[in-house]
Amino acid sequence: MKLSNSESAIAKFYSEYPFPNVAIYKKQDLYKTLIYELIYGLSKKYLDKYKNKKIKILDAGCGTGELSLGLADGRRDILGVDINKKSLKIAKSRALKFKITSVKFSEFDFAKADLPKDHYDFIFSIGVLHHTEKPEKNFSRLVEALKIGGYITIGIYNPFGSLKVRLKRGILKILAGDNFEKKIEIYRRLFYRRELSISEKVAVADAFANPYRRYYTFEQLLKWFERNNIQFLDSAPSIELSKNIKLIKVIFKNILAGKKVSLMSIWQDIVYKHEPVKKWEISKPVSFLTQLSWSVIGRGELINMIGRKMK
Ligand SMILES: C[S@@+](CC[C@H](N)C(=O)[O-])C[C@H]1O[C@@H](n2cnc3c(N)ncnc32)[C@H](O)[C@@H]1O
Repeated sequence: MKLSNSESAIAKFYSEYPFPNVAIYKKQDLYKTLIYELIYGLSKKYLDKYKNKKIKILDAGCGTGELSLGLADGRRDILGVDINKKSLKIAKSRALKFKITSVKFSEFDFAKADLPKDHYDFIFSIGVLHHTEKPEKNFSRLVEALKIGGYITIGIYNPFGSLKVRLKRGILKILAGDNFEKKIEIYRRLFYRRELSISEKVAVADAFANPYRRYYTFEQLLKWFERNNIQFLDSAPSIELSKNIKLIKVIFKNILAGKKVSLMSIWQDIVYKHEPVKKWEISKPVSFLTQLSWSVIGRGELINMIGRKMK
């Protein structure tokens, strides 16, 4: 099937920079990757509902497989699909290395070919849809593959949480045009002043040299959910202003005390509390303020939202 210009630019980009390609030396490292911590934290409560059941999971746009492999527990039958052969090769070699047989990886373009209908109990698609040509349509395609009562978690760039990244992307575009390597080199010199590890280089490339990405507000994504009969359950970063204010207070307290604490450990206590989201917190002026606060807390670039298929 013929790819459009933006689709081939994305395919070319990820074959040069398979993402996230985090260094995994031992199996335990799978549970320490950012993607695993971020997404497992958000989805745990709902995955736990299936504790003793066999379930089918799809990781659409699985990249180098960190999330799919981290989720493997023997009972979960997991399929990671991606359009990028290089990423899949890395993912497969990891499955082999750690003898994980309940996860399969396959080359598949879910924007072009149909997935089986009403098939999966859980679908993850993190950092993917905003790189496709028709993000909402492709979201609907994933929802069609989800069983009624099943859960979907998507990660999408947010225009407010991405303010700093967008500014830097603009500056790099002026300095280096469309030259990926030049952009990465300028960024390295300005912000690292040392050699980058593979995953750091890939992360910098993904943020600043990726040729095609779009941004969606929380309200726009909520509309996707509504139009596709998905009930919104929770998000990370949290869409609740009260939680973000708490978070900002704890972050500043630690800074003032000179303590270095990882953001994810603070999130465990505040963002991943899993109480039902209060209605007023997702009403428009409040949710707008919350999204602005994401540019302060960090990790606000990607909003990860989980929902349940109602019919
Ligand atoms: C930013 S990476 C995210 C990887 C992984 N989900 C993560 O968060 O670590 C985006 C991935 O989506 C894949 N991708 C983009 N469009 C796709 C499509 N239509 N079907 C399958 N994979 C796709 C890319 O090849 C790339 O590996």
